[in-house]
This record gives sequence, structure tokens and C-alpha cells, in this order.
Amino acid sequence: MFRSLYSKLALTLFAVFSLLATLLVFLHLYSNHLYQLETQQKLNKDLATHIAQEYKIFENGMVYEDRLQDLFHTFMQINPAIELYSIDADGKIIGYNAPHEKIVRTHIDLQPIKEFIQGERSFPIEGSDPRDISNNKIFSVVSLKQGAETRGYLYIILAGERFSNVVSHLMGSHIINASTWVIVIVLVFSLLLALLAFRYMTKRLATLSGKMEQFKQSGFTAISDSKIRHDRCSDEIDDLTYSFYEMANTIVRQLSKLKQADGQRRELIANVSHDLRTPLTTLQGYLETILRKSDELDEAEKQQYIETALQHSQRLGNLVSELFELARLDANETRPKLEAFSLPELVHDVIHKFWIMTSKRNISVETQFDQQLPFVYADLGLIERVIQNLLENAIRYTPDGGKIIISLAHADDAVTVQVKDNGCGIAEKELPLIFERFYRPEKSRQQSSGGAGLGLAITKRILELHGSTIQAFSRINQGTEFRFHLPIHQA
Ligand SMILES: Nc1ncnc2c1ncn2[C@@H]1O[C@H](COP(=O)(O)OP(=O)(O)OP(=O)(O)O)[C@@H](O)[C@H]1O
Ligand SMILES: [Mg+2]
Repeated sequence: MFRSLYSKLALTLFAVFSLLATLLVFLHLYSNHLYQLETQQKLNKDLATHIAQEYKIFENGMVYEDRLQDLFHTFMQINPAIELYSIDADGKIIGYNAPHEKIVRTHIDLQPIKEFIQGERSFPIEGSDPRDISNNKIFSVVSLKQGAETRGYLYIILAGERFSNVVSHLMGSHIINASTWVIVIVLVFSLLLALLAFRYMTKRLATLSGKMEQFKQSGFTAISDSKIRHDRCSDEIDDLTYSFYEMANTIVRQLSKLKQADGQRRELIANVSHDLRTPLTTLQGYLETILRKSDELDEAEKQQYIETALQHSQRLGNLVSELFELARLDANETRPKLEAFSLPELVHDVIHKFWIMTSKRNISVETQFDQQLPFVYADLGLIERVIQNLLENAIRYTPDGGKIIISLAHADDAVTVQVKDNGCGIAEKELPLIFERFYRPEKSRQQSSGGAGLGLAITKRILELHGSTIQAFSRINQGTEFRFHLPIHQA
């Protein structure tokens, strides 16, 4: 029942307010009581002196015991509510205006009496009550002196038996009652206000907790309504909500990335196995044929079989070294060794490497270089690999008699490299995928020629290591263009 934060807070608040109310009411009544006593004692401070003077109990330095007895007698007759006592210098009660059985003390404590006479303490001062052994009462007192010597005291209890009843009457008085009620009502009202405020504040927490539960139920995959205000007026709950949405969105993103990566990993393994198995089986087949049918085959056939087997083993070798290269690039083992070099020279070198292939297929490779190109600042070996991959692709995916243009242009503090062909082109929907490892469109897969689909992935990774990116533009059956920038060497 009291599981929610709000109910716990409400319960605590209720307990605190009840305690506060009790304390306040008690304090209010008690201070009122003390105030009554104080005014009473102040008003009647000189009562004992007046009575002593009125009844001439001591005159000309003499104490008249008989007049004292008369006084008690008179008061016993006319006003037994006023409690009068005569006490000797040691505090012993020697006379009073009360029935004998009512007096329960024999001695009065002299300390409060002395404090009263010397005016050392502020009122109310309470002294011993001869009629009550456990409670003290306020009083008025006058010392009865014979010459310089104190013979005794006339001691008057102000809040006597009947008066204390009046005090309790006062406690139940209309004004005190009303003010007590005001205190209670103000506290109840404040409690209600505080409960409302708590309700408002905990409601936001409850909403947040609900959202978290929803997020959990969705398997951490969907987070609804993440438009959260986060400004200078935000409090801790807003901060918490904002952080939760940030965290949830990150989790959703990371989870989908993980799922995607997992899918890619599976696909990668499938592709690697497939691409390794195909040349391996073919290689094995040719070698077995040569071995088993060695007698039936003539020299030329044998030569041809061995050459085919060798081609497949080369393909296998290429694939393995490409995989290895990519793994090294991924593991950040390869740090580009940056140096200044001339790109036109490098491009010419690469074109030269492919010369036999291009001339065999009658493909022309043109160069268009800006005048006085500055040196670029990059890793020579890695950039050679990039240009080689792009040119190899251009040759591979361009029909015989095609045309390839490699251009270098100076732009701001970079050199733009473009490799353009008029080959088969790439379909628009496949264009964003060609940089993924092992991605080869169906058309390329069916061709016996071609590699594993790692060339562009390696190219992209190398350029990433140089802080550069590669772009591809293509139109089906019209040609393809790859473009990237390399920083120039700042002398
Ligand atoms: N110049 C191009 N013209 C047409 N298609 C291209 C061109 N360059 C790349 N492609 C397409 O992009 C795919 C991926 O290219 P990538 O270089 O990564 O792999 P690959 O050339 O098939 O094999 P590998 O480079 O690993 O030997 C190719 O299979 C091809 O379909
Ligand atoms: Mg390639």
C-alpha cells in the first residue's frame, strides 16, 4: 500500500506535521500558562506588604503576633480563598488561615522567598505550597522585621487551590481555544499544500519511471516521445529525464548497430567461406585430373590444366592477402607513414603496371593533370594500393576498347584524384553498398573474373586512415567515377 514514493513522503510529512502540531499546541498552552502566572505575580507583588501595612502587623520595628492571629481569623471568616501563612526565620510554618488538616508541610523553602525579596529573578517565581507537597505555586511575601533582624515572613499563595482551577478554566478559555484551533488549522492547511506540491513533483518521477518500464518492456529497442526540454530552468528531475532519454537513445542506436554488425559478421563468414571454397575446389579438381588421368592427357592439355590450377591458386592467394590486409588496417596496426611525394609520378607507375592488360584489351588510359601540381603528404605505399584498386576495377568493369581517364586537380590545400571509366556502371541502389566488404552485385558475382569484393573496402579504410573520404558516381552502362582528396605538402 505504501510502496510508492509519494505515499512514503506523505506518511513522513503527516508524521512530522502531527509532531509539530502537538509541540506547538503544547508550547502555546504552556507559555500561556506561564504568562498568566507572571502577570498574576506581578500584579500581586506587593499584596503581602499591603496586607501587613493594612493590619499593622509590624510597626515601629516591632512584630505584633496577636494582630497576625487576628488577621488569620478574619480571613478565615471572610475569604478563605486567600491563603495566608506566617513563617519563622527558618521557614517553619507557624500560622495560617486554613483548616488544620489541609496543611501538609511544616516548612517552606526560603530560597525562592529570598530571591523574591531581593528581586534577583524575573517572575514567575514559584515557592513551596503548604497545602500541596508535590507542586509549587506563585506567591507574594513580605519579611517581618524587628529592628534589623528578620523575625519571619508573611507568605501569601497567589494561585491557590481555587485559583489553580481558575487557571485551568483559563486554559479552556475561548481565546486560547480559538488560537489553538488556528494553529491546528494552519498546520493542516500547510500539510495539504505540501502534499499537493509533493504530488506534483513525484508525478514527474512516476512518469519517468513509467517510461523506463516501457523501454524495458520493449526489450530496450524503442523509446517513445523524446522531445525533452533542457534549459537553464530545468531541475534535477528534468536533468534525470534528459539523461535517461539520451542513454535510451544511445542504447537503441548501439543495439541496432550491434545487430547490424552481427548480421554483417555472419554474411562475412558466409562470403569468406564461399569465396575460399570455390577456387579451392576448382584447384583440387584440376590437380586430381592431372594426377588420375596423367596417361590419357597430352602435354598441351596437361600444361593448360596446370595453368588453370595456378590461376586459381593465385586467386586464393590474393583473397587471403586481401583479407589479411583488411584485418591489419582494421586493427589499426597500419599507421600511415606520411611523406611528401609526386602523385603524377605514382599514377604513371600504376598505369604502367597494368599496361599489358590494358593493351591486350585495347583499353586506353588517359591522364589529365593540372600544371605544376604540388606534392601530396600521404603514405606512398598505401595510396599506390588505392589507385591500383580503382584502376583495376575500372579495367575489370569496362568492356574491351573502353576508355579510362585519371585526373589530378589542385583545389585549395588538397589534390583531387578522379578515376573515371565508360564501363558497365553501377546501379543506383547498389552504389552505397560497394564499399562494404565482400559486397559484389549479383552481376559481378556471376562473372568468373573479378575478386572477392574487398578492393573498395580496403580503399575506403586506407583513405579513412588519411582523414579522407571516397565518393562514387555512376550511371548504368555509361560509366563510373571515383573521387577523393589528398592533403598537399605544406613546405
Ligand atoms: N569501375 C567500376 N565499374 C563498375 N562497377 C564497379 C567498379 N568498381 C567497382 N565496381 C563494383 O563494385 C564491386 C566492389 O568492388 P571491389 O573492388 O570492392 O571488389 P571486386 O573488384 O569485385 O573484388 P576485389 O577488388 O576484392 O578483387 C564490384 O564487384 C563491382 O560490381
Ligand atoms: Mg576491385
